[in-house]
Order: sequence, then structure tokens, then C-alpha cells
Amino acid sequence: MKNVTGLRCVSCGKVYQPDELDYTCPDCGTRKGTLEVVYDLHSAGDEFRKKVKSGKVKNIRRYTPLLPITNPDHLPPLEVGGTPLYGFHELTDRVNRIWIKDDSGNPTASYKDRATVLAIAAAKQKGIDTMTCASTGNAASSLAGLAAASGIETIIFVPKSAPEAKIAQLLIYGANVFAVNGSYDQAYDLCLEAVDNYNWYNRSAAIHPYLVEGKKTGALEMADQLNWEPPDKVFVSVGDGSIISGLCKGFKELATIGLIEEPPSVIGVQAKGADPIARAFEKYTGSDVQIDDQPAHTVADSISVGKPRDIVKAVKYVFENGGRYITVSDDEITSGLIELAQNRGIFAEPAAATAYAGFKKLLKSGTLKQDDDVGIFITGSGLKDVNAARKSVKGPMEIDPNIQDLERVLEEANW
Ligand SMILES: Cc1ncc(COP(=O)(O)O)c(C=O)c1O
Ligand SMILES: [Zn+2]
Repeated sequence: MKNVTGLRCVSCGKVYQPDELDYTCPDCGTRKGTLEVVYDLHSAGDEFRKKVKSGKVKNIRRYTPLLPITNPDHLPPLEVGGTPLYGFHELTDRVNRIWIKDDSGNPTASYKDRATVLAIAAAKQKGIDTMTCASTGNAASSLAGLAAASGIETIIFVPKSAPEAKIAQLLIYGANVFAVNGSYDQAYDLCLEAVDNYNWYNRSAAIHPYLVEGKKTGALEMADQLNWEPPDKVFVSVGDGSIISGLCKGFKELATIGLIEEPPSVIGVQAKGADPIARAFEKYTGSDVQIDDQPAHTVADSISVGKPRDIVKAVKYVFENGGRYITVSDDEITSGLIELAQNRGIFAEPAAATAYAGFKKLLKSGTLKQDDDVGIFITGSGLKDVNAARKSVKGPMEIDPNIQDLERVLEEANW
């Protein structure tokens, strides 16, 4: 933590001491008062460069000089980060290289583990033994799993409609699970109220400033894997807006410390039925972020967010980055999911396939340049929502256990 100089409110700009507050700026409230971790980037940069040059570690511990960690022993023992980056030559010759960062390889099979480890390390530092979180499913299963490895009890709020596999993860990790009769947005508000009443330590999206720091490690790692020459444009799915904020911050800090020449354009992809950040971005001119919450509906359950909690950062950071937001339909998400699996061998959940669908949309519209290198973050595993996958494809061919029946089916299928 020696490189952290303060926590700055993203709306009023007030700077707090690094350990003055746990969550948000009291003057601006939980929604607009999200805090950003400020570093002495001169000393952090020197240390960071040394560490990545000499270190053999291939997980988020590699990046500690640019992370708010007091004692690395407080990080959960499971390996977070160090996920594969796959390179594809695009066959359409409309872009140069495609790099797919597959974060389904994290311990609980989603990008969220990157953020959870920092919240757990902070809790350990404070001697806290109970944590809570409201989530569409992935942040919750991430907290439940990594907390289980750290001896921390968890209390989880998820919408009752969360996919079965995510609820199974919570239960098997031993979390105390509340399946809320309502939307994710309602579960989140309930969790906030519970935190006020019971004083549990909160890992819900955006509320804790360290979460975006963990989420920035995807940017650090992608650039590191490409020898500090990141792609020109990167695509990521957006719900609450924390992952995209982390990516913008990570690339910006790498540019500031001189490890990369300039940050890639960051392109946020939202589902059409859950697009409040894309809408706020359209109206943003550089001053106040206008918030217009609407109930969310999309097949991509993880980004079915109508009241995004990191909207201020997600709008301001992308504006500053020079990136943009786009939206895709549920049909485009499903086609993206199938194509990712069938052409690239990557099985993503719908919310993760949304980033790929956004890439395909811009590719088709001719917006990308022929010499563009493109990065796509795959933020969650398809095994977390097998029902969505099964609904997207035809069922298997049923046969009796004899060769004649196999022959019959092969003939019918015209093979
Ligand atoms: C698989 C997946 N992709 C993308 C996101 C979006 O992240 P954020 O809510 O930080 O925008 C989430 C969030 O739950 C997710 O689970
Ligand atoms: Zn403030």
C-alpha cells in the first residue's frame, strides 16, 4: 500500500486518506460517490517495471506495486489471473489480429475473481470474518469460493432467477445464500440496507474502491502478455461498469508509467435491454453523468443491470479514454456465443459472449480498420449457464445402442 496516496471521489474530487473510508464519499452518496485509488505513479512505476522484468509469477501477485495490498499474505491462496490470451488471425481480412483473453480459467470461472481477491485481502487486514455481496451471480460465487479458501464466512444476495450453476457454486462453497424474489437491482439495495444494519463487510459491485483495482489487472496482464504492445481496440461486456472502468484505469496507468505507448480504445458492449451506461454515455459532454435507471431484460443474466453502480466511472473513464459504447440484441449475443464456441473453441456464458457480439457488429459495419489489432475479454464460463447454451443449439441425435440404428440416423441426417 505504500504507493497509494489517497482515495478520490469520482464526482466531487475530494481526496481522502488511503484508510480513512471503506466505501464511498459521504458527501456524494453510494451511487455518485465511488472512490478511485490514487497512486504515486513515479515510485509505483519503478517498482512495477522491476517486478515484471524479474518476476516469474504468472498471476495477479505479479502486479502488486500497482495494487492496494498491504500484506500479500492476506491474498487468498488460490491462483487468480495468469489466464490465457489466444491469438487468432481473422479470416475476413478486415482486421489484423484478434486476441481473446479467456478469464473463465480463474478459480471460480469468471473475471470477478480479480476484484474479489483485493476485497478479501482488505478484510483480512482488518481482521474481518464475515463478508457480504449482492450479485447477478459471478461476483457472489467468486466471493463465496475465495472466501472459503481464506476462512471467511459469506452472506450472499442473488436474484432467485440466477442460473442454477451459479447458485450451486454458492451452496457448495458453503455460503449463506438469500435467493431474492426480485431483480439484481433490488437484491443490491437490500444488501446495502443489510450492511447498514449488521455491519457486514461489503464486496458488492462498485461500493469498495479496491474492486476496480483488481479489475484493472486484466488490462495489465493483456499488455504484459503482448510485450507491452496492447491491441488497438479492446471489447468488454458491461453491466455495473466496474470491469470497463478497471480496464481504462489499468491501460492509462501503464501509459503514464511509460510501459505502453498509448492506451487502446476501450469499447463497452451492453445488451439492448440493459443499456443505461450506453445511454448515459451518449448524453455525456464532460461534466455531470446523467443517470436514467430502467428495469433490465436480457438473456445475458450477468449484465442484466438496470441501475448500474459504477456508472460515473464507466462513463467518465471511457470518455477520457476516447472509447465508446455500443449495444447488441439478444439474438446477436446468442450468435456470438455459438460462433465463439464453434469457430474459436471458447465456451462463454451469454454475458461474456456479449463482448464478442459487439466486436462482430463493428466488424460487419466496417468500423474497424484493416490493420487493427483487437482484444476481447471473455469474462465468464459457459458452464455457468448451460441452459442458455442448450437453448441456442439443436439437441443431440438419439439412437438405440446398435449399428443399424446409427446407420438409420446417419442416412436421415444425409451424412
Ligand atoms: C460474465 C460477466 N461479464 C461481464 C460483467 C460485467 O461487469 P461489470 O458489472 O463490472 O460491468 C459481469 C458482471 O457481473 C459478468 O459476470
Ligand atoms: Zn464526493
